[in-house]
Amino acid sequence: MNIYRYDAVIVGAGLAGLSAAIEIKKAGLKTCVISKLHPLRSHSGAAQGGINAALNEADASLHEFDTIKGGDYLGDQDAIKTLCQKAPETIRRLEKMGAVFSRAKNGSIAQRAFGGQSKPRACYAKDRTGLTCLQTIYEQADRLGVEFVNEWFVGDLLYDSFDRSAYGVAAMKLRTGEIAAFNAKATLFATGGYARCYAVNSNARANTGDGLSLFLRKGLPLEDMEFVQFHPTGLAGSGILISEAARGEGGRLYNALDERFMERYAPQKLELAPRDVVSRAIEREIIEGRGVGEHKDAIWLDLTHIGREMIASKLPELSDLAKTFLGLDMACDRIPIRATAHYSMGGVPTDNDCRVKASPTLTTSGLYAAGECACVSVHGANRLGANSLLEAAVFGKIAGETIVADMPDLSPIGAGDHDANIFFEETRRLLRSSGAENAANLLATLQNSMTQNAGVFRNRGSLEKQVEIIGDLRDRFSRIRLSDKSSVFNVELQEALELGHMLDYSALIVSGALAREESRGAHYREDFAIRDDEKFLRHAFGYLDGGKTRLEYAPVAIGDYKPEPRRY
Ligand code: FUM
Repeated sequence: MNIYRYDAVIVGAGLAGLSAAIEIKKAGLKTCVISKLHPLRSHSGAAQGGINAALNEADASLHEFDTIKGGDYLGDQDAIKTLCQKAPETIRRLEKMGAVFSRAKNGSIAQRAFGGQSKPRACYAKDRTGLTCLQTIYEQADRLGVEFVNEWFVGDLLYDSFDRSAYGVAAMKLRTGEIAAFNAKATLFATGGYARCYAVNSNARANTGDGLSLFLRKGLPLEDMEFVQFHPTGLAGSGILISEAARGEGGRLYNALDERFMERYAPQKLELAPRDVVSRAIEREIIEGRGVGEHKDAIWLDLTHIGREMIASKLPELSDLAKTFLGLDMACDRIPIRATAHYSMGGVPTDNDCRVKASPTLTTSGLYAAGECACVSVHGANRLGANSLLEAAVFGKIAGETIVADMPDLSPIGAGDHDANIFFEETRRLLRSSGAENAANLLATLQNSMTQNAGVFRNRGSLEKQVEIIGDLRDRFSRIRLSDKSSVFNVELQEALELGHMLDYSALIVSGALAREESRGAHYREDFAIRDDEKFLRHAFGYLDGGKTRLEYAPVAIGDYKPEPRRY
């Protein structure tokens, strides 16, 4: 087996991974970025509507407050301060690198309203903001000579649990099936989110959350996994994202009675309440029989009053999506939408410098995480729109800087041939397995049941049912059979590996949701509808020990803003 040696290995080539790579490369360290995709297909490119910054820096504390309140006070306020204070310089850095942001009439960077904001602060490039940022930063990483290892699937974290030290990853080259070790002093995960475990979701095909379960399999925790964001406006049926920019530019929501129903749920902010509030309102309208469309399971998004010219200049991508997938013209047709699983607030716990935590109190060495797969935690129980690109850019850069600063103190652990064995054996087991189960069927069952039982609304009964379903699926997973035994682009094998990861972390989503007997942000318990700060103003660290979940708790870093009732 080949062993490739680096100072730093970065897993994931989205905005966070590439921001880190640039810092590490600039410091002259030998680094590579491993991705199962070409970097420009990373999911950062799908963030449409904006990237937040208080460009008037005096407003940064308002950005902090909005983010804290938006996250229902579960976010760590020291990390949120860093996020918001660094936002303006981050936008300037991206612009200097070449990101073409849309302009206001006076020539300054244009900013639009997004949910839960006291002031419009989402900087944007029409409705292709993520793609613009990703292309720009990829060009810069490429210009600097960052080494890209594309279309390799990372299947194991090389980790010494006695010393709590990481020393790289094991990965499979999708084109040939070769399995190799990537040995490094520093290993950074920037692998994105995990909403693909839901049936209706806005996520790229690749967002299967493998990067998270790898931590669980080493006995490391994941934090606050029960907090999954449902974006209010997924295209009906497919869940494809229709950006919050649509509401930021004036879009309105109507039910079957032609009521602008957000007047009842968020009288001040209306459609621009945070996503958790709007998604619940949409689902409530549907449950209570006021849905629209053939199956009465959607809500109207209306942009017809804003005009064709505005749609063409500010929302061209959305207009294309509505036309391509539903044959509708946004300028004169209302668009049927429904909440769609979109973002993962939970993830790999890190300190504010992106170093991975082994428990609420223990650190690791040589192991880092940033972006959506990490939980630092800046989004708390609910992320505000346009804070995700910001988090990826800010904390990706911080991760790179931390790795550069830590490098002299990281002791190299040499990888040997045996280090890729665990992953090699996992692939062989799947290829040899002769059971009767089919991975695609198991995936569909997982996704449908997660949507049904651990979705926008949850309760003890639905979550206990989901625990059983996942247990059954794990059992059946041990008996799946692959029909493709080849080694060249074996998509069936890749999907089976991904399913194994999804089953692992889904168990954590459900056990966290079951234990959290309160409603906070995106986690809404029908049987505990009130936020309970006394018992649950705390982070949950979930572990998977021998297939069983276990939870520990950690305090939230409260700063200037004491928890208050959250009204919009
Ligand atoms: O609605 C959107 O454009 C998505 C952006 C985000 O998730 O931040």
